[in-house]
Amino acid sequence: MALYICSNCGYGSASWMGRCPDCGQWNTLVAQAEGKKKKNEAVKKLEITSLAKINPLAKSRQPTGIYEFDRVLGGGFVAGEVVLLTGEPGVGKSTLVLQSLQKTKALYISGEESAEQVKDRAQRLNINLDNFYFSDNLQVEGIVEGVENLGEKLDVLIIDSIQTVYSKDIDGTAGSISQLKETSARLISLAKKQKITVVLIGHITKEGEIAGPKTLEHFVDCVLNFEGERLSNFRLLRASKNRFGPTDEIGIFEMKGGGLVEISNPLVFLENNKELAPGKAIIGISEGKRVLFYEIQSLVANTAMPVPRRVIKGLDYNKSLLLLAVIKKYANIPLDKYYDVYVNVIGGFTVKSTGADLGFIASLMSSYKNAPLPPNSLYVGEVGLRGEVRSVRSEDKIIKEAGRLGFKKIFSSKNLKNIKDLTESFYKKSF
Ligand code: TYD
Ligand code: MG
Repeated sequence: MALYICSNCGYGSASWMGRCPDCGQWNTLVAQAEGKKKKNEAVKKLEITSLAKINPLAKSRQPTGIYEFDRVLGGGFVAGEVVLLTGEPGVGKSTLVLQSLQKTKALYISGEESAEQVKDRAQRLNINLDNFYFSDNLQVEGIVEGVENLGEKLDVLIIDSIQTVYSKDIDGTAGSISQLKETSARLISLAKKQKITVVLIGHITKEGEIAGPKTLEHFVDCVLNFEGERLSNFRLLRASKNRFGPTDEIGIFEMKGGGLVEISNPLVFLENNKELAPGKAIIGISEGKRVLFYEIQSLVANTAMPVPRRVIKGLDYNKSLLLLAVIKKYANIPLDKYYDVYVNVIGGFTVKSTGADLGFIASLMSSYKNAPLPPNSLYVGEVGLRGEVRSVRSEDKIIKEAGRLGFKKIFSSKNLKNIKDLTESFYKKSF
């Protein structure tokens, strides 16, 4: 039986369709060749080795010299490692990579900018160009052969971006699923054979449609995501997968005229801490070894639709729906039928920690009642299905840091047992 695969998202179907039901693109389903029987191959003898006798890999790490980047990587680039760096266009991926190559012998393959543009930017960033090579050859076979015959060993190969390189042996335009798989497979094997670090840059779109680069996540050693809004200058670097390092560390940067600057002060995400407004709540959570503070904004408004709208940005969608049900049941706030709910984490960041639950609920209540939350208040806590407020990891550390930064009233499992208590304090105005 033939199988039709969507060249955009990888969806599979037994019959051909004009439009992919998964990603909605037209004319992307392509018949895949049926698996042919391979020619007779002799049975391979199983060779076994005692692992105890194998020498451990000498993991040679090469620090990038950018402390925040190294921390996320786990100490620097590992020889032979393949790193996928994803982010929205314009967030600063190329800049980050350029800045991290100061101490390494690097080849930069660019399908997006010309040599002059790259040099211009590198000079503006004050980057030493002595060990820096450039090519705009986007054919993967040519890149692999070129690197193998270079005559000197590269430390890092950067592909900017993986959506622009192609294999001559594969049909389909650069960036299609089949091209992405083939080109990255060849680059990964080059990395392992030559012990070069390969950095693949991949674009994702605002809606989080990472169908393309997402399919590569299983094959690479490390997946980094660079996030932040173009209008705000702050950027977060996170690892969602890391074979040679931690996944809970984050790197914080600010985009300035002279490139990305590292940030160590955690208060950066609060743009106007003093201003009081309905629907605004400040949360504190711990990520890696750091405590971070974010602002959640909610807007609860009467709906004109039979099914009210929920637009959630920066928080988990399903968790948010669950918390809306919890609010209805335990705080008696009926947002389910008559109200649209819009929620945003300021700065374009994504908060994954469950420690944001309490702040999310407080901001919804505040918008619903059209009353600001108390001045200098902070919300720290996970909320369970019974409405109970739970403690979170490193709660004491968050509270201590919050005190240092001038938060006066900290709501957490230490003073709230259930979100009911939060509603009561709202009615009594006795925060
Ligand atoms: P870039 O690294 O090209 O983004 P990406 O590779 O993710 O698409 O960064 C683009 C943005 O960064 C661009 O809007 C300009 C800004 N920028 C600065 O503000 N300062 C700088 O020094 C540089 C190099 C870029
Ligand atoms: Mg770029």
